[in-house]
Amino acid sequence: MPEKGNNMQEAKVVKTLLPVLKFYRWAIPVIILLGVLSSFFEGFGIILFIPLLQSFVQNNSQTTSNSAFVDVLNKIFVNFSTNDRLAIIALCILGSIVLKNCLFYSNTVLFAWLNSRIGHRLRSGIFNQLLSVSYSFLEGNDSGKLINTLSRETWQTSIALSTLVTLTITICTVSVYVILLLLISWQLTLIVSVLMVLISLFIQFVTRQVKILGEQAVKANSDLATRMWEGLAGMKVIRAFGRESYEQQRFDLASKKVVNTFLKLDIFSGSVQPISEVLSSILLLCILVLALLQDPSSLPTLLTFIFLLYRLQPQVKQLESTRVGLIGLTSSVQDVMHFLDRSDKPYIHSGHIPLKNLEQGIYFESVNFRYNPQEELALQDVSICFPKGKTTAIVGPSGAGKSTLISLICRFSDITSGEIYVDKYPLRELNITDWRHQIAIVSQDVYMFSTSVMENIAYGRLDATEKEIIEAATLANAHEFIMQLPEGYSTKVGDRGVRLSGGQRQRIALARAIVRNPQILILDEATNALDTISEHLIQEALNTLSQSRTVIVIAHRLSTIEQADQIIVLDKGRVIEQGNLQQLLEQDGLFAQLYHLQYRNASI
Ligand SMILES: Nc1ncnc2c1ncn2[C@@H]1O[C@H](COP(=O)(O)OP(=O)(O)OP(=O)(O)O)[C@@H](O)[C@H]1O
Ligand SMILES: [Mg+2]
Repeated sequence: MPEKGNNMQEAKVVKTLLPVLKFYRWAIPVIILLGVLSSFFEGFGIILFIPLLQSFVQNNSQTTSNSAFVDVLNKIFVNFSTNDRLAIIALCILGSIVLKNCLFYSNTVLFAWLNSRIGHRLRSGIFNQLLSVSYSFLEGNDSGKLINTLSRETWQTSIALSTLVTLTITICTVSVYVILLLLISWQLTLIVSVLMVLISLFIQFVTRQVKILGEQAVKANSDLATRMWEGLAGMKVIRAFGRESYEQQRFDLASKKVVNTFLKLDIFSGSVQPISEVLSSILLLCILVLALLQDPSSLPTLLTFIFLLYRLQPQVKQLESTRVGLIGLTSSVQDVMHFLDRSDKPYIHSGHIPLKNLEQGIYFESVNFRYNPQEELALQDVSICFPKGKTTAIVGPSGAGKSTLISLICRFSDITSGEIYVDKYPLRELNITDWRHQIAIVSQDVYMFSTSVMENIAYGRLDATEKEIIEAATLANAHEFIMQLPEGYSTKVGDRGVRLSGGQRQRIALARAIVRNPQILILDEATNALDTISEHLIQEALNTLSQSRTVIVIAHRLSTIEQADQIIVLDKGRVIEQGNLQQLLEQDGLFAQLYHLQYRNASI
């Protein structure tokens, strides 16, 4: 008997899967219809055996059975001569088989198409979700789990879908068969059904015993493992207390228990198949014999009936296994659907104001920001400005909130309170694509795609020419080392390619930013992995670059900071000092301390 809990689970899977199917609403009824028609033709082919066999038994015209359906079937061919009848029925049977298989094949193809489409839609939907959901959501989620959802669980959902369709088709097939059986003889069908249910109850009883024995076997095995482990771990104590024979006895007892339970398990589980086969055969034979004793002329009908029953059996088994399979896939389906659900996740919404050029600058007004509601503020009451065409350096100890400030400018996260203005527009009202188009960022953690150096640099501007890419690489002081790579600009880098050093990665990332030719250039410790000479060379390039640009640079090195038009000092999320180099040194605060400390180290 199906349990109530399981039924509810199936309903849950079906309910969860429905949104996936909504784009292909037409396909499901077609698939089911094809499934039903193919079962119908199969059944039809089988019942045609009744008139066929009847022709051999006796003259058809004299035959009457106690089934109106069988009589009608026999009468259809009554006017043909025996030979013609045989030929026509054989052709009809052949036609049914061919039709059934054509329909079945069309269904397989249609379903394969549907399944691949849905699989693609799911994967694409999940990837789109990854691209559009707020960055904070991704950071808060385990990346391994996300990859699992994207790869494995999506496949599982496709499988769940195919299982659901198989289940539906099997239900239809079983229904067609049962209807045909009822039409041939409702009395026989009723008797067979009752007896089948009794047999299945008996089998279920045996299966339950097998399950209990299975649990006992698992326990016996784990007890034995414990004995082994304790024997090993406590060897010193065992020997010291002279308990060798006692332990040997305990071990043998546990081992014998394993032997006994597994033997019982094998005896019981092995009996299910033979018992079920013997019982069903006895049942069928009894029906055959009893029915034939009553009416010997009904042999063709009976044989067809039994054949139909035989064909029905695997379908019933499949019904159960697909049902169980579907339940096993519930969690995968829920995982995928939960990830695709847009109602419970944060998004960065784009504004409507287009932006072609930065005119005045970026202004922070009393900006507060926290990553999570339960966490402390990462930025507190920040009021600063980044004027157009100027270079602003942000300095401060680790964890002060420098990268956080950058991520707010790039709108990776939205502020908690206050406002950021770009010229006179609030940042969140600007079209986000327009805004990000103005920016190029070289962040602290440089990411290289698994492709060529050339493509990695061109990622900054997809239509960049080779000449522009080489120019950018030269400016970023990367050209020389790229030319020394095995295949120059075509060398594959990233996870599956050549491993680059931190400094080399930084220079490629810099070239990527340069080739973008942005209005706003953001460098988050973009040169910290470089040696002094490389840094000096890049610094010169950056000086040229920053002449016509708004540059925000986070750096610890003095050389970078000294060139800046203004310096902002952050500590624990607050702006504590602000001004140019001279003003800050005069203030003699945190910046001056850091400055003098570095100078002393540098001069050592
Ligand atoms: N994704 C995040 N989720 C939660 N808290 C974060 C996240 N990123 C940073 N923080 C916290 O915000 C604070 C500021 O971090 P931020 O990365 O901005 O510092 P930083 O000044 O760039 O430091 P560093 O010089 O080490 O790069 C830190 O206390 C950090 O723990
Ligand atoms: Mg940082």
